[in-house]
Amino acid sequence: MLEIANLSKRYGETVALDDASIAFSAGTVHTIMGENGSGKSTLVKLLSGVVAPDRGEIRVDAVPFVGRTPAAFQAHGFATVFQEVLIAPDRNVIDNILLGYDGPFRRRMPRDRRRQAAADTLAHCARTAIDLDINAGWLPLATQQLVVLARALLRRPRILILDEATAALDFNDREIVFELIEGLAREGSLVLFVSHRMDEVLRLSHRITVLRSGRVVETLDRADASAERLLASMAPEIVEERRHA
Ligand SMILES: Nc1ncnc2c1ncn2[C@@H]1O[C@H](COP(=O)(O)OP(=O)(O)O)[C@@H](O)[C@H]1O
Ligand SMILES: [Mg+2]
Repeated sequence: MLEIANLSKRYGETVALDDASIAFSAGTVHTIMGENGSGKSTLVKLLSGVVAPDRGEIRVDAVPFVGRTPAAFQAHGFATVFQEVLIAPDRNVIDNILLGYDGPFRRRMPRDRRRQAAADTLAHCARTAIDLDINAGWLPLATQQLVVLARALLRRPRILILDEATAALDFNDREIVFELIEGLAREGSLVLFVSHRMDEVLRLSHRITVLRSGRVVETLDRADASAERLLASMAPEIVEERRHA
């Protein structure tokens, strides 16, 4: 469904992603795992059209898809929740959920349906009750994250990309989001789940790709992935230190 081939991106001297090739299948939760600075968010930005690669190809349903804008990615069913919580602080929760869904000049959804659509979508990803009329900037970070998640879900994405999107959530909301991720995959979507939390990764993933210093170390099926193996792929120096200790 989605494929990257020899994808590279550098920022000045820093090679953020180096010749990365990964194939992603429909109906799976495919995790990208790696330590801080390993290139996970760079990959997410390349797969959302906000950053262009220096080299390599992105293919959607076998069609090359490089050099496209965020709008083109969205039109092909991509929705991304970025690591930095992108909220419009002075707009209310309803507007924030519909942000980008409405056109720049015209509201795509009639006024009376907006509130219900926002409430329904939020109910799918949060147990916490959220005031729809409050300015989103007033909400705690965890709640803002749920609003941004609802914004992505409203689009009924075929490819949902979550960059550490569950990091700030409390236990109950995290659980509901996990169930939602599993549900989307069951219905045939691809969920690209970025995380460095071993418990989440082992719980949710069908496949796991490990990045280290911008390079793909390996892609594993869940059945072949243990915590020890993943840690050794992500951070061999830590495993080595422990062995000496
Ligand atoms: N806009 C940027 N300008 C300069 N360096 C960047 C930029 N974005 C990321 N980097 C660098 O690229 C590397 C990979 O970063 P990133 O993709 O954010 O990693 P991760 O999400 O795995 O923590 C890091 O060394 C980071 O400092
Ligand atoms: Mg990151």
